[in-house]
Amino acid sequence: MTMPLLRTLPLSPLDDAAYARLWPLLDEGEQARARRFVFEANRREYVAAHGLARLWLGRLLGRPPAALAFTPLTPQGKPGLVDAPAGLDFNLSHTDGLVACAVTLDAGARIGVDVERRDRRIGAELATAMFAAEELAWLDARPAGRGGPDLVTFWTLKEAYIKALGVGLSLPTDSFAMAPEGPALVRHDGSLPSDLACRLWVRDLPSGHTAAVAWLGPAWLEGEGQLPADLVTEEGLADLW
Ligand SMILES: CC(C)(COP(=O)(O)OP(=O)(O)OC[C@H]1O[C@@H](n2cnc3c(N)ncnc32)[C@H](O)[C@@H]1OP(=O)(O)O)[C@@H](O)C(=O)NCCC(=O)NCCS
Repeated sequence: MTMPLLRTLPLSPLDDAAYARLWPLLDEGEQARARRFVFEANRREYVAAHGLARLWLGRLLGRPPAALAFTPLTPQGKPGLVDAPAGLDFNLSHTDGLVACAVTLDAGARIGVDVERRDRRIGAELATAMFAAEELAWLDARPAGRGGPDLVTFWTLKEAYIKALGVGLSLPTDSFAMAPEGPALVRHDGSLPSDLACRLWVRDLPSGHTAAVAWLGPAWLEGEGQLPADLVTEEGLADLW
């Protein structure tokens, strides 16, 4: 059992020289996609996320970052690695000012990550449409109700779970419920395969973002009390070049 890993990269201190070093690590498809972004900020997020994933996965696997090849792992588009060693799963997330990559090295495990700005306005209407009854009841019992930063906590946890499964929004977001205490998956209506157990983490980062990670691993570990106890978090690129 190894701890799941989360590496974040705040974009505000990332200068043009760093982007120039990341760009050649991307393959032709990634570079073409990066060029198609209308807004420079989105292009930078994309280049940073894919550069971070390549540098970090390359380091973990002892392979040159530019030689890695990505492939859809699920019909809904979760990316995986061509020739990935058994047990490796990773996931990317990018948002305004921050990108993140999460990795698990446990055989049979899957991982998902989501990052959002802590001050993102989700709005009561969207929460009511997207969240489970248990989550709405939890929010309604709080002073801020269906407003405030607790919505971002639920949003990132739910998105991380969907991304670990790799199913995209084909999974109705009110068909499973998270509790921020723990945090824990308190209902899944069968979306979690019976051979998998779920561990969740949510972190408020100094950059003003919230990051959530969902790890789905062999259920027998639950009985043995061997589910990963914690998440190892790292930041930046400095040690990866
Ligand atoms: C596409 C989706 C997987 C994530 O979208 P997102 O939150 O906007 O974007 P993120 O930055 O967190 O993640 C995007 C990355 O996830 C990865 N990804 C794409 N499809 C994926 C899938 N089916 N499963 C897991 N990861 C996926 C990709 O690496 C992608 O980045 P890339 O396009 O640069 O390679 C999907 O869940 C979605 O469309 N969500 C929309 C948001 C929403 O309504 N959430 C409900 C929360 S209650």
